[in-house]
Amino acid sequence: MIIAIDGPVAAGKTTLSKILAHRLDSSLLDTGAIYRAVALASRHQGINWSDEPSVAAVADQLEIEFRWIDGTNHVLLAGEDVSGAIRTPEISQGASLVSALPEVRTALLNLQRRLGSEGNVIAEGRDIGTVVFPAADLKIFLTAQPEIRARRRHQEWLQKGIDDSYDEVLESLRERDARDENRPVAPLEPAADSILLDSSELSIEQVATRALELVDRARAGDISG
Ligand code: DC
Repeated sequence: MIIAIDGPVAAGKTTLSKILAHRLDSSLLDTGAIYRAVALASRHQGINWSDEPSVAAVADQLEIEFRWIDGTNHVLLAGEDVSGAIRTPEISQGASLVSALPEVRTALLNLQRRLGSEGNVIAEGRDIGTVVFPAADLKIFLTAQPEIRARRRHQEWLQKGIDDSYDEVLESLRERDARDENRPVAPLEPAADSILLDSSELSIEQVATRALELVDRARAGDISG
């Protein structure tokens, strides 16, 4: 079974994916982490994030690996654990920039399909239901109001010792959402057959409960992917 979870920045996709993967004994495919790894690898090689052919070459040769260690999804880039390094505000912006480049998206498409092709998988990103796995068994479009997403992300970053203000987090989130929604290739948009889940007024447990109900319905053939 392939479950696609798409949605804007900080909608809670990773948290929901982890819960679903645990409950459904599935593997996780965090495609945002792949774009983040491309941004980081480009930075390491001194490549500008707007240099499309060079960034696409980095994407083409990306040596990325995911490892599940102590309940956390670790990301390894050429064998080095970059799980923390890819989640800074700077790399978030870099990932958003490189993901808007068509050649980069083309270079990463087969990689994502290969990584998600074995067994049950929960794949999260922006274009999973529309482009990467258009035949997914269940497509959830997870969203929430921007202010609520910014508040959650701000809290998350404070806990990691990143002291950007709430206003800075909100501004960066709006900027990334706008870039994701307006790019010409694979923009962020709900697949026609996706189910919208708005988490603005729901706890993560409530979101997970609703998602698990949708999984049951999809299994029963009540929702067609
Ligand atoms: O989900 P995230 O914040 O980790 O994603 C990082 C960036 O990658 C985000 O700004 C948009 C981009 N992305 C994308 O364009 N397509 C995907 N399938 C996943 C992420």
